[in-house]
Amino acid sequence: MNILVTGGAGYIGSHTCVELLQDGHEVVVIDNLCNASRDSMNRIEAITGKQPVFFEGDVRDRALLDLIFAKHHIDWVIHFAGLKAVGESCEKPIEYYNNNLNGTLELLDAMRAAGCRRIVFSSSATVYGDPERLPLTEDCRIGGTTNPYGSSKYFQEIMLSDVYRSDNTWTIVLLRYFNPIGAHDSALIGENPKGIPNNLTPYIAKVAIGELKEVGVFGNDYPTPDGTGVRDYIHVVDIAKGHVAAIDHIRQSGVHTYNLGTGNGYSVLEVIHAYEKACGHKLPYTIKPRRAGDIAACYANADKACRELEWKAAYSLDDMVLSSWNWIQHCKNKENN
Ligand code: NAD
Ligand code: UFG
Repeated sequence: MNILVTGGAGYIGSHTCVELLQDGHEVVVIDNLCNASRDSMNRIEAITGKQPVFFEGDVRDRALLDLIFAKHHIDWVIHFAGLKAVGESCEKPIEYYNNNLNGTLELLDAMRAAGCRRIVFSSSATVYGDPERLPLTEDCRIGGTTNPYGSSKYFQEIMLSDVYRSDNTWTIVLLRYFNPIGAHDSALIGENPKGIPNNLTPYIAKVAIGELKEVGVFGNDYPTPDGTGVRDYIHVVDIAKGHVAAIDHIRQSGVHTYNLGTGNGYSVLEVIHAYEKACGHKLPYTIKPRRAGDIAACYANADKACRELEWKAAYSLDDMVLSSWNWIQHCKNKENN
């Protein structure tokens, strides 16, 4: 099938392009490169032997979207394009709502005009807010989000569901990712945030490689086994394969919602210790106060995706952190050469 991947040069998008190409699909990418590089396309080609058709541009550029739909018969859209930093979204809510909500609206309007009514949307476990119960199932209450980024995901889910309600020929797939981490086994694609990382594993990676001094553990007084926050970390390649599974399995119109997680929760200290095994040395850390807006624990029940999409996360925490370690070393070597 012909798949339009918005944000396909980014972290999850590039891994998904690889899996789609390896599954025999044709891939067209639109990305404005605000958080990625054009080189992602070459790296995808180095892994798969094929390069996606690439359009540099913004999903809010309606003329460009119309051109893409006119040039390519698109069967499905996978919509990754968006801004995703929680802290930044609190400082720049207008930019976040503009990019994330207007981007999705322009895209949906262009799809409707082109007669393409199948979309997979990158949602997040953040839509569950403070979890009603654990593990989270797709029918748990959503909302109660605590930052503009999370609220934008929640609003986009509502917008997409309303579109289906207005015209039930649409096929809308909402994939709620838990905590994607790690990198491709080739170490050719991954995530290497500029500056000080906000998320746990990129931060640990920079401590492991010697760029940062120590990991700050945000709170050790949560009601969890060791007092530190618990999350459902999932390998980015498993997330990518979840998209291919959705496209390969979903045949009926409707709003289809799936959690993409492993079903296992790991604490901050468990992740640090797993990373120490991967990199072969101790990682210094200090306990810091809780981070505002954080919840104690969040992990998925992913049985629905297993049942309906025949998808199950395959990688362990050790695999995830080892791939992260291989990737950060690759990035460091590249910088030094
Ligand atoms: P990313 O920043 O690496 O990828 C997003 C891509 O979209 C980037 O390449 C960026 O250049 C592009 N982009 C942003 N705004 C655009 C616009 N208006 N027009 C065209 N391109 C645009 O982020 P990611 O981690 O790969 O996340 C992909 C999607 O998954 C996002 O929607 C994100 O909110 C969602 N998500 C991510 C996580 C996570 O932890 N990484 C968790 C849950 C959901
Ligand atoms: N943490 C630390 N130190 C750090 C960074 C994080 O102790 O330097 C802790 C956090 O307090 C939390 C855990 O590590 O307990 C995970 O934090 P992350 O920032 O890596 O991830 P979050 O669960 O806070 O959020 C991530 C994405 C969100 C997304 C959510 C669910 O940042 O965008 O997963 O998918 F919505």
